[in-house]
Amino acid sequence: MEDLIEAIKLKFDLASKSSLGGAELQQMRAKYLGKSGEVTDLLKKIKDLPPEERPAFGAKVNELRKYLEDRFAALAEESKAEEMRLSLQRERVDISLTSCPSRGALHPVTLVEKQICDLMEAMGFEVLSGPEIETDYYNFRALNIPEDHPARDMQDTFYVTENILLRTQTSAMQARVMERRKPPLKIVCPGKVFRSDNDASHSPVFHQIEGLAVDKNITLCDLKGTLSYIAENLFGPQTKVRFRPSFFPFTEPSVEVDVTCSNCGGKGCSLCKGTGWIELLGAGMVHPNVLENCGIDSGKYSGYAFGIGMDRVAMIKYGIPDIRLFFENDQRFLKQFGK
Ligand code: PHE
Repeated sequence: MEDLIEAIKLKFDLASKSSLGGAELQQMRAKYLGKSGEVTDLLKKIKDLPPEERPAFGAKVNELRKYLEDRFAALAEESKAEEMRLSLQRERVDISLTSCPSRGALHPVTLVEKQICDLMEAMGFEVLSGPEIETDYYNFRALNIPEDHPARDMQDTFYVTENILLRTQTSAMQARVMERRKPPLKIVCPGKVFRSDNDASHSPVFHQIEGLAVDKNITLCDLKGTLSYIAENLFGPQTKVRFRPSFFPFTEPSVEVDVTCSNCGGKGCSLCKGTGWIELLGAGMVHPNVLENCGIDSGKYSGYAFGIGMDRVAMIKYGIPDIRLFFENDQRFLKQFGK
């Protein structure tokens, strides 16, 4: 009979060596300690023994029961701990990731736009915006550029249909505004423009700001004074402006405007290719045909217009070598500006 007790203990020890889940433990407990379990069977066998052997055998069975109960309690603890470990592993959250979004910064072109608009508003100009998808009429014909005019070659255009295109210049706003409003007129129109160009200094999308002033007795001097003021504000008070004769179908006379190089102060460096000057924008006196196209008497009124490439201003101001950096949305680049 005592061998039987040893055998049950041995069987239990072997079975409990591998780790057991909660349900398996329950089953095993019933098998050994349940109502018809092996230990209970042993107790039932006591009555078959001679009376003098009964107390000692009974004590042994109790010892076995106590041993099993202790082991089951320990195994249940272990199984619970194991379950907890597995569930923590399953539900693991990486708390080292920061949940705090990083602070944004204004885009360098936005900074330039804001600076110019603030300045122009202080001089009594109104800021207006217009459509990026434009008609051939406002982008070209109203601006004295008829169909098949060679001047169209200056701007490689994205057409949507024969008559609708992505505007190539904010000058498209000139006729839109002059058709509806009559002089005196002082406006600036910042926005995106599009041309089929792509290299380090040309992007298929870039930003211009158009300036337009129409009134009685507006002269080239007014244009030069305004542009000098803008240039000094953008690049520093020592900045000088010079006009070179140029051609645009919608201005007469037309000028190309240079500013003294802000990097070398006009002495000559790699940024200005040794000339001391940087080409910045196109401008001129509004062509009489454009005024007349919009129903403004060119005998009575005159005006000036200019178009500044804002990406170019930002490149010069912040020393950015490639225009495409503005459009790549690389946060390492963008974070450096406008904090
Ligand atoms: N729209 C011209 C360009 O994009 C610039 C310009 C604007 C010239 C206004 C004259 C007057 O090249």
